[in-house]
Amino acid sequence: TLYHEPHRPQFHFSPAAKWMNDPNGMVYYKGTYHLFFQYYPKDIVWGPMHWGHATSKDLIHWKQLPIALYPDKLGYIFSGSAVVDVNNTSGFGKKGQVPMVAIFTHHDPVGEKANTDNFQNQSIAYSLDEGKTWTKYAGNPVVKNPGIRDFRDPKVSWYAAKHKWVMTLATNDRITFYSSPNLKDWKKESEFGEKQGSHGGVWECPDLFPLKLNGKEYWVLIVSIGSGAPNGGSGTQYFIGQFNGNTFTAIDDETRWIDHGPDDYAGITWSNTGARKIFLGWMANWQYANQVPTATWRSANTIPRDLALKQINGDIYLASTPVKELSGIAAKAIDVPAAALKGGKDIASAIKLPALYSLKFKMDSAEDYFITLSNDAGESLVIGYNKKADRYFINREKSGKVDFNKEFAKWSFVPRLATGKASSVELIVDASSVELFADGGLSNLTSTYFASKPYNHLSILSAKGEIKDVKIMPLKSIW
Ligand code: FRU
Repeated sequence: TLYHEPHRPQFHFSPAAKWMNDPNGMVYYKGTYHLFFQYYPKDIVWGPMHWGHATSKDLIHWKQLPIALYPDKLGYIFSGSAVVDVNNTSGFGKKGQVPMVAIFTHHDPVGEKANTDNFQNQSIAYSLDEGKTWTKYAGNPVVKNPGIRDFRDPKVSWYAAKHKWVMTLATNDRITFYSSPNLKDWKKESEFGEKQGSHGGVWECPDLFPLKLNGKEYWVLIVSIGSGAPNGGSGTQYFIGQFNGNTFTAIDDETRWIDHGPDDYAGITWSNTGARKIFLGWMANWQYANQVPTATWRSANTIPRDLALKQINGDIYLASTPVKELSGIAAKAIDVPAAALKGGKDIASAIKLPALYSLKFKMDSAEDYFITLSNDAGESLVIGYNKKADRYFINREKSGKVDFNKEFAKWSFVPRLATGKASSVELIVDASSVELFADGGLSNLTSTYFASKPYNHLSILSAKGEIKDVKIMPLKSIW
């Protein structure tokens, strides 16, 4: 392995060195998944933003490439998206070359300092060599700020029925939709959300896409908020509704969350993947992201997740599950015999517990459950289900290094949405993160932790509940 530092994720993408935040510009093209990301190459704290770049053939193994976009006289390069302009609507393609076009926010630090209200504007750049090198459009910015301090994070997609591009933009306390025939000239269409959803923080990093449920199409609008999420700090809510190319209408007033955990933020989906929608978040929280105890780099992404709509008691929700490509780094699953679990025994005393793994089992939602990961330094992370509150939880109060920020040592909770007694959980364990996917991805918690030694013990305890079909799938490092 290439990376040996303490806490270094072994199968989640993290930059080789220095600071990373939001995933940006994810686009699939010619068999390659591109991932760009908010990147500051000079320090392990947030700074003047660049777009870093990495690629993958399978969403799991990543290769980091040179920086794609550097700050310029219009400002830092904030979050945004990328599209493949197959029809060359932009005219950037020459001699039949298909342009890849990035749409991002130019954040002018000078204007910000001077306390103006128009220092964030939307710009574009194009690449004719599959994302390796980029040329910024001479006519930037393409969407000028009308006087809204928080005006950023454009997500663009092709709206085929009306033959135009649609931009979903976070504009302070709402989303503003724009449309364009050519990615250069944009017209405001409508706004959504001033009175909907959670407004604990400014709206950021939106995404908009259709998904089908029982043959019927719905549109999902994803909106991140930097603070005020259910378990504190940053989180990602979503709305289900209809979009007609001009306006978005939500089907109800419920505020839904993609992942209730403290560490899944600013996630958006890959473009150009057809009907498949693959989501990736930044596995951190603005409350403490600049202070986590890693020495040479800071932060990683979540595991990429497939999104699907599911109906529960007449309500529609978005379920997220780890992409099936994860099995590409899995060794043969270990079936854990019932005897190895009795009374919350350490599973590691019966089987060889791998350092990196996915744990799956079935449980009974009428009982309490505790899954404990621990080490010989007396540190532990407890994940479980509380039947009375009907919710899953993660407690990282004693998980290791926690005192770098007072917001870190906390519990997080997610309500169980599924009905019925039988419940299934999947837990993905890397060197400094756990991702809980319960009931087929309806209730999710992603949480980082910083144990002083790897957790080499694991137990599952339930006073009365059954623990069935326990499988541990060892995972390999991608580095
Ligand atoms: C979200 C965010 C975006 C912004 C970027 C700056 O985490 O605040 O709204 O574009 O980070 O790095």
